[in-house]
Amino acid sequence: MSGLAAGEPRIETVSDLEWLRARVAGWKRDGLRVGFVPTMGNLHAGHHSLVRLARAHADKVVASIFVNPTQFGPNEDYSRYPRTPDADVAGLQAAGCDLAWIPSVETMYPYGLEGVVQVRVPGVTGVLEGAHRPGHFDGVATVVARLFHQVGPDVAVFGRKDYQQLAVIRYMVRELAFPLDIVAGETQREPDGLAMSSRNQYLSAEERAIAPRLHRTLLDLRDAVRAGESPAQAEAAARAALDGAGFEVDYIVVRHPDLAEAGEGDARRAGGGASRARVALVAARLGRTRLIDNLEFSVD
Ligand code: PAF
Repeated sequence: MSGLAAGEPRIETVSDLEWLRARVAGWKRDGLRVGFVPTMGNLHAGHHSLVRLARAHADKVVASIFVNPTQFGPNEDYSRYPRTPDADVAGLQAAGCDLAWIPSVETMYPYGLEGVVQVRVPGVTGVLEGAHRPGHFDGVATVVARLFHQVGPDVAVFGRKDYQQLAVIRYMVRELAFPLDIVAGETQREPDGLAMSSRNQYLSAEERAIAPRLHRTLLDLRDAVRAGESPAQAEAAARAALDGAGFEVDYIVVRHPDLAEAGEGDARRAGGGASRARVALVAARLGRTRLIDNLEFSVD
């Protein structure tokens, strides 16, 4: 049973690189623009919205499903990361994806994990997520560069929830002159404000009830900074609120959009023409589950 309505176009599921390249080359010969959404599978409504966004920017959409071993640290959840390919492909189809690219580890890393040619993005990878998950962004940049070479898209879509990942990808695309556009998709949230994430399913019922405080605290942090509190003071209050709710906080900070620190003199500098844009970012653990979120705002 495919679950497809009669006449509905069937998504193509491809694991062979030559096949993928032939299909995309055919589309390009026909003058079609190709959109791409990289994923690690276990897809939810947030991923589906990225596919719909890719559709709005392209004639054909490819989504990849690949749980990338090189972006997980030794104590992270690579082996228990949920793998749900059948449901993922059905969801991609419903969202308007034309082709699901599902490479094996051998296709992605033909010389094995010891023989990986790495892409390392400097600067932005050393702070926040990069500082708490050493090597994570090297793994992300390494796999995304390969995926771009494999798929050859005209446009690729990434979610804003992974704010720092988006910055890393933009830097890499510019530095390595990948001939494609990057489009950012809005974070999708549950009705109570919790950002959608594959990791939410690890939360116990009790943790799930607490989890929306993450977004609430970002909103409070934004309001405090807008009301004139210094970032340091507002960050300390936000951290205390999360500690009190039962989170173990890795960081909760206010930064400039390029992730440079937002200091106390910023309001005065802003008067001198500097950007008023800010982003508040948080990473915190509830039990065994590590959640991240962010909120972009302006201090006008
Ligand atoms: O955001 C993700 O799901 C992953 O980091 C990505 C971009 C698919 C690379 O493995």
